[in-house]
Amino acid sequence: MRGCSSVVIFCCAFSACCVVSEASTMDPEDMEVESGNPSNVLNHNHDVIKERFKYFKRRKPPPDLSQVIDFDHATAEASLGSVVPYQLNFSEDKDVLQECGLTNPTEWKAFTLSTHPGLIFICNPFTASGQRHWAGRCLRDLPCHPNRTNLDAQGLLQPGENWWKLCMDGAGGSLMKKLRWVTLGFHHDWHSKLYNMCDRSPFPADLARLAALLARCVGFADYAAEAAIVNMYHADSTLAPHTDHSEWDMTAPLLSLSFGQSAIFLLGGEDRADAPAAMFVRSGDVIIMANQCRKSYHSVPRILSAGDARWHDSKRKRCGGCDTLRVASPKQARHAGADAEPRCSPGAILCECDVTEASGDVTAEEGDPVAAYLGRSRININVRQVFQRGQVLHGETH
Ligand code: OGA
Ligand code: MN
Repeated sequence: MRGCSSVVIFCCAFSACCVVSEASTMDPEDMEVESGNPSNVLNHNHDVIKERFKYFKRRKPPPDLSQVIDFDHATAEASLGSVVPYQLNFSEDKDVLQECGLTNPTEWKAFTLSTHPGLIFICNPFTASGQRHWAGRCLRDLPCHPNRTNLDAQGLLQPGENWWKLCMDGAGGSLMKKLRWVTLGFHHDWHSKLYNMCDRSPFPADLARLAALLARCVGFADYAAEAAIVNMYHADSTLAPHTDHSEWDMTAPLLSLSFGQSAIFLLGGEDRADAPAAMFVRSGDVIIMANQCRKSYHSVPRILSAGDARWHDSKRKRCGGCDTLRVASPKQARHAGADAEPRCSPGAILCECDVTEASGDVTAEEGDPVAAYLGRSRININVRQVFQRGQVLHGETH
């Protein structure tokens, strides 16, 4: 790559953030949050986002979640409190939507907050299979060379080894929960907190297309995904309050896609003293931090178990007769209602078996290790554009 010989290291980075769990000591700044030692904390009394982070993280007594904003229950027709419907632009090709695992945009609901302009929250625009697809990319394909993972850094993955394959072969054992992050595109150095111009791998083209499509919907016509962190959260994981301030171009939004278990997301302002809004984030939800909220503090104080498995195709059922997985046809679903049990009957669309007793629901976990992972953990894909369009750096045009 041109420019590498001059070892250009930009003073730009993902800020001090990485997902931590109770047992983890990955990032010293995150641990500062855990230590509760006021001498480590600047302006402790006014660190409102940290206070709220600790409140929602607390186990005993558990926090009151009744005031947490639930966009899923908001109506796209009228504002309610600080929740304001947001009009998306879409002129997307059906094939592109399908390729990205998205539903028809006319069905999407999006909101902003009057208290936090610049936030755009799109309530799950993905199909169930789209969710499984992206989770599968994050689990099967992305945590390996040339992308970086915390496992490489810890010496737990040798060059050429595929984490998911090791886990599936059973050799991984405890390796499953040990994957905490994967970096794509421009890699972030967690120690120097810099983007290194010479440490870059190709950004996955399909994820770049998805990011560009979502950015277009909120008015950013030529968004280019250049770096991403895929964060893996387990039941006790948190992400401490931080800002992502290190990209060269701070006018392009941060895009955040979540799959699997739910979370509480805190969005503050540019100052730690600004009161954060707390919101539920569920599988498939997209959070866009643009314009006024691009530099805002944010954090994930708590993972919550998902009430519904949105990555699970409700039409996918197990036949009670022959015990095979079947997809109910639209015709069958219409006749029998949404919760219809597919039956195997003579000449049925489902299978050849002629048993007609009730069949069981297929749980998301059965036969699909990606769905099983989503049933336990949360995957967050956090995408950034690093450079301004047309920016020329050491002979490379972005
Ligand atoms: C990040 C981030 C938020 C989330 O990776 O920088 O803010 O919802 N992630 O996991
Ligand atoms: Mn962030």
